[in-house]
Amino acid sequence: MKFDPWNPQFVAHPYDAYRDLRDNEPVSFFEPTGQWLIARHADVNALLRDRRLGRSYLHVASHEAFGREPEPAFQEPFWRVTRAGMLDVEPPVHTRLRRLVSKAFTPRMVEALRPRVRKIATGLVQEFVERGGGDLIAEVAEPLPVTVIAEMLGVPESDRHLLRPWSADICKMYELNPPMESQQAAVRASLEFGDYLRELARKRRQEPGDDLISALAQVVDEGDRLTEDELVGTCVLLLNAGHEATVNVTGNGWWSLFRNPAELDRLRADPGLLPTAVEELMRYDTPLQMFERWVLEDIEVGGVEIPKGVEVALLFGSSNRDPAVFDDPDRLDVGRAENPHISFGAGIHFCLGAPLARVELIESFGALLRAAPDLALVEEPVWKPGYVIRGLESLKVTV
Ligand code: HEM
Repeated sequence: MKFDPWNPQFVAHPYDAYRDLRDNEPVSFFEPTGQWLIARHADVNALLRDRRLGRSYLHVASHEAFGREPEPAFQEPFWRVTRAGMLDVEPPVHTRLRRLVSKAFTPRMVEALRPRVRKIATGLVQEFVERGGGDLIAEVAEPLPVTVIAEMLGVPESDRHLLRPWSADICKMYELNPPMESQQAAVRASLEFGDYLRELARKRRQEPGDDLISALAQVVDEGDRLTEDELVGTCVLLLNAGHEATVNVTGNGWWSLFRNPAELDRLRADPGLLPTAVEELMRYDTPLQMFERWVLEDIEVGGVEIPKGVEVALLFGSSNRDPAVFDDPDRLDVGRAENPHISFGAGIHFCLGAPLARVELIESFGALLRAAPDLALVEEPVWKPGYVIRGLESLKVTV
């Protein structure tokens, strides 16, 4: 099967097609989206760090290489809430925005959160076990990271149910060529989410709490270091990025373990393997399969000339199975020692939340291994339709 992000069979198992690309055409032009697909780890890793490429279409649209306006579908209000976050801007704005929140996500700060993360994970798992199991995605994988990031930002508990649907609608825009109804849903979600956060920031300004939104609202008031749109963009990014991929690593990870029972037994017998297991699960079935970059100057990749003004699609899922970097890459090995997977990206946009994601995943897998030693699959899970964001719709299990 060839690379075809709209074919459900390819989406369910893209890894054979990736192997063909790596072996035969590691840099190839993909007609339907007009992008260059980059399949090898070394090239993906190098391009993520290359300042001759940029992340944001808007940034690029104003770049002399392009000189064109963004497509209407991508204009306000979707852009208003996404472009102002650090992920869609370049230095020096990126440096300023990342610095404002990076203190909250250092390994030391995150380690201090571990007891709280463990308590939430243990509580969710205990209730799940008491019910005899159910949908692991909806009942354990989702609520843990949503609760953690919402608490960090200071989103009241009564409002947390709003976050998931807004985030899901916004994230669908990261799929390739999103259909019109997804674009409309994303615009609606962006409007509602933006209004909600502006109102929350106003409240926190009047009555500050010990949370990130209160801290950011204060920075807005202090002067020219953060605009209100940047505050909203930062919060939307943290709330979305702060859970989407983590949910999917939990689901994809358990699904990988169920299909590799010897590795699951090995992990049960030695929970000390949890840190390497989590890295391996993120490598083996990568939650974010692809990231794009705009080419700002003519470049050469693996002997192929790529002109400025086009987009490259960096295939993370393929890079993570590259035999040039990983021994026996199609084998799940929960004790894999050398694991330079690319799932958190690289370069200036390297995932800010990586330490937090690791703590959440170790605590959630650990809690389930301890409390549900007989956890077993009830039925074959169904993949969500998207290709870029790889995750299960549901994962029904018994305990
Ligand atoms: C950026 C993956 C969890 C916050 C990124 C990028 C990747 C990624 C690949 C870089 C995108 C690019 O270069 O275009 C993941 C995965 C996660 C995860 C696989 C879970 C396993 C989190 C969490 C947070 C978070 C829990 C919590 C705050 C961010 C932010 C950025 C980012 C703020 C933008 C950084 C920047 O532009 O400087 N993430 N992420 N992520 N991630 Fe994560």
